[in-house]
Amino acid sequence: MQPLLRTAALAWALALSAAASAQVPQLFQGANPAEGHKLMADRQCDACHAKKWANDGKDIYRAGKSITTASQLRAKVEQCNTGTNANLFPEEVLDIAAALNQSYYHLTQ
Ligand code: HEC
Repeated sequence: MQPLLRTAALAWALALSAAASAQVPQLFQGANPAEGHKLMADRQCDACHAKKWANDGKDIYRAGKSITTASQLRAKVEQCNTGTNANLFPEEVLDIAAALNQSYYHLTQ
């Protein structure tokens, strides 16, 4: 490939990856959603939510009502963490919030 073309291709690839990560709120950019999904399964978060909400408890995760930003989502996860003595570390709370965002909330800020 011509050096100039290679530079252009590289710039294009960088622009694309920047656009992709712009979809993830800044708060969640260092988080690990895969780990968050595992933690949620491990702590059985949805088993409790399922007592009141349909769809195996997943209907509780609704964007745009009380939760409209990434930090509000993190705060709600933190609230359940404290309220249920789940004893999650702050990084784990963030991983879970990022996982919930990826699957349900799709917040971009
Ligand atoms: C003992 C029951 C119970 C357990 C266990 C529990 N929750 Fe909850 N959770 C609730 C209740 C009740 C609400 C609704 C009250 C509220 O929104 O403040 C709620 C609300 C939430 C919400 C807000 C949803 C929304 O969009 O309004 C999130 C997020 C959440 N829980 C995450 C978790 C996570 C993550 C865990 C596991 C670490 C967990 N919860 C464990 C009972 C529980």
